[in-house]
Amino acid sequence: MSAAESYGAFAYAYDQALGQRYFRAVRRLLTDVLDRYPSESMTHLDVCCGTGLAMPFFASRGFVSTGVDISPVMLNVARKRARRLVGGDTRALPLRTTFSRITCLYDSLNHLLDARDLAAAFREIAGVMDGDSLFIFDMNHPEIYPEVWGLKEPFVDEGPDFHLEIATTYRRREGLGRALVTGWAAVGGKRIDIRERHTQRSYERDDIVAALTGAGLLPIEVREFDPWVEGRTVKLVFVCRKRDSLLP
Ligand SMILES: C[S@@+](CC[C@H](N)C(=O)[O-])C[C@H]1O[C@@H](n2cnc3c(N)ncnc32)[C@H](O)[C@@H]1O
Repeated sequence: MSAAESYGAFAYAYDQALGQRYFRAVRRLLTDVLDRYPSESMTHLDVCCGTGLAMPFFASRGFVSTGVDISPVMLNVARKRARRLVGGDTRALPLRTTFSRITCLYDSLNHLLDARDLAAAFREIAGVMDGDSLFIFDMNHPEIYPEVWGLKEPFVDEGPDFHLEIATTYRRREGLGRALVTGWAAVGGKRIDIRERHTQRSYERDDIVAALTGAGLLPIEVREFDPWVEGRTVKLVFVCRKRDSLLP
């Protein structure tokens, strides 16, 4: 298995520059899925919860949410939004109970660089699901890596409390996108520098479905999602149940 990458100081700018914007886009889709598949029990697990953006939304729908993430800095930011937070790796979830709705959002699973890691994550998630459970997650559409990660211009964003530049490259032969994240964030009145590298792997839709099937999960919906309303599919959103579940 490849080493897990943890978000550091980037967490503080991530929340404002990327996370909140993405969650505003994805909440419409979550609302639609939750409305169409009402659940018996109201427990929610957010895997790779990051700064906890999904959790107030699920709380507003009557769920009790738990978040798991490998990054202590992300979890630190999440504390303003959520109480039940656990440090842990999605490839070995530190949980013993089941949850009725499980999410894993904003291409978090593309951080798993080896197909065996993705398979391990799906097995772990299947292990905390029962017959009433749904697992809703998104991953980057594979075409986004050459089209967007392959661009020469960096992504730049700034606000009163942060400045962020993300320069990306993509190597088709390896299927790996690399990002150099630089900038600063104001935290507790101090300016902290950001300089970290992140890598993502591009997965084909069929490979994702094969990994789900191997873990005993059945995709009941696969949607093409255009979060920035740009007229192109940026993410694939999967809604899955356990293969032996009685859900439709
Ligand atoms: C792009 S952020 C998304 C955060 C959050 N889901 C959201 O929608 O804002 C990816 C998150 O995945 C977490 N992560 C990456 N690899 C992980 C792993 N193996 N186990 C648990 N968390 C992981 C990172 O720490 C980071 O918080």
